[in-house]
Amino acid sequence: MEWIYDIIEPVYFVAAILFVLALRAMSDPATARRGIVWAGIGMFFAVAVTVLIPATFYDGGITPTSTLEVNFVLMGIAVAIGGAMAYYAAIKVKMTNMPQMVAIYNGMGGGAAAAIAAVDLMRNGLPSGLLGGLPSGAYSPLDLVGGMIGSVSFAGSLIAFLKLQGWMTQKPVTFPGQNIVNSLVLILAAVFGVLFVYDPALFAGIPISFLALFFLFGLLYGIMMALPIGGADMPVVISLFNALTGIAVGIDGFALTNFAMIIAGVIVGAAGSLLTYLMAKAMNRSISNVLFSAFGSKEETGVEIKGSLKPTDPDDVAMQLAYASKVIIAPGYGMAVAQAQGKVKEMCDILEQKGVTVKFAIHPVAGRMPGHMNVLLAEAGVSYDKLFDIDEINPEFATTDVAMVIGANDTVNPAAHRQGSPLFGMPVLEVEQAKAVVVLKRGQGKGFAGIENDLFYRDNCKMLYGDATDSLAKVVQALKKL
Ligand code: TAP
Repeated sequence: MEWIYDIIEPVYFVAAILFVLALRAMSDPATARRGIVWAGIGMFFAVAVTVLIPATFYDGGITPTSTLEVNFVLMGIAVAIGGAMAYYAAIKVKMTNMPQMVAIYNGMGGGAAAAIAAVDLMRNGLPSGLLGGLPSGAYSPLDLVGGMIGSVSFAGSLIAFLKLQGWMTQKPVTFPGQNIVNSLVLILAAVFGVLFVYDPALFAGIPISFLALFFLFGLLYGIMMALPIGGADMPVVISLFNALTGIAVGIDGFALTNFAMIIAGVIVGAAGSLLTYLMAKAMNRSISNVLFSAFGSKEETGVEIKGSLKPTDPDDVAMQLAYASKVIIAPGYGMAVAQAQGKVKEMCDILEQKGVTVKFAIHPVAGRMPGHMNVLLAEAGVSYDKLFDIDEINPEFATTDVAMVIGANDTVNPAAHRQGSPLFGMPVLEVEQAKAVVVLKRGQGKGFAGIENDLFYRDNCKMLYGDATDSLAKVVQALKKL
């Protein structure tokens, strides 16, 4: 098996190229599937060659044969269990449950990075004879950093999963002095880590080791960091934890001199950081505001809205649409909740048969995860060339006959232009500039930001109340009769 050593680096190099190409392909919906396949192939080779390394404990002085036997069995079992669970979950998961799926998988990555760092620290920290007779050696401070970031990401992602799955409150959990308490937890974790590296045998009589305390406080900090963040901000936080997982893996890679881990970690860390920044920017909020302001726990007060809500019915809406020459659809979170994308596509097809131009206005943070609307509409078969970014579509509303808002609220709220509003400064779809606006929603529910939307009260706006799928089904029926 000596030859394995000669192919490790070349295989890691090919895997790295596949990761980079995959990321590039994933930046466009048309090539995203291909990107996923490339990344999968790259990961398969990287894992396969790692599994085949005869002595995983490279400096352990263990005979390759015995390590090979033990590792193959254990790794085989781990890969089989993990792979089967992941396959089953991926087949079963609904599109609306995708954010929590990403959260839990990301958490696993962080947990794995923390576990690798823990093993490395223990290997170096325990007297030889323990842990299979491995020799003690120098500690890598990098292991401490990787272990810390990995445990924060693991525990924080689990809280994000519980919130998004509805297994704990989605509301921000806050208490006085929270930021100070959180900082103390982080400082204590760092102190225990440093004490362990300084001398693991210090206070040898105490029942719990500094290493265990270091990881316990790291996990606690991850939980405390995620608790004050509201459910709807979770996608940003998951993206941040994703970046942290990548960084932890990259740091572990440096500690272990494993190039595949360094490259994969750096790619995930950089992509995750960029995505976090872009999402926060699209909501016109800083990352620290997302993390520390408990957004969603306060409502805007003292705003007086003029005008009235004007209900309409499916027959009227169908008539308006059928006689329009241009219609722009602005979908939002409510379309995802109602799973109305199929009906949207059906309506779009009928309108196009009648010669109406139909376009989709896609706000960067419509829904609850990046690309939420793109994925749902693609799933329903709406072609990508009908989807337009906010900058492309906003100038078009003024020449549009009907703007149809389907379960969107904050992303079409003109309050974004009002000083003092929580949405102030957020770029919004300027649907109110269309000749007529129809809003599909169930009732008086507010958007994620919890503030009133004066668009609904404007003279050119009518409300079609009901679940978006039911309402669209009725509009489609009415259109077919025209
Ligand atoms: P929201 O502001 O959340 O509004 C959704 C609207 O859909 C609600 O007003 C609700 O009103 C309606 N609705 C819910 N279920 C419905 C159903 N079954 N049928 C019809 N309507 C339904 O949505 P948005 O405009 O997409 O904005 C997204 C918000 O999430 C933004 O504030 C954004 O900053 C935030 N956010 C997004 C992300 C990402 S990455 N996308 C990440 C974090 C936060 P009713 O209850 O009256 O029906």
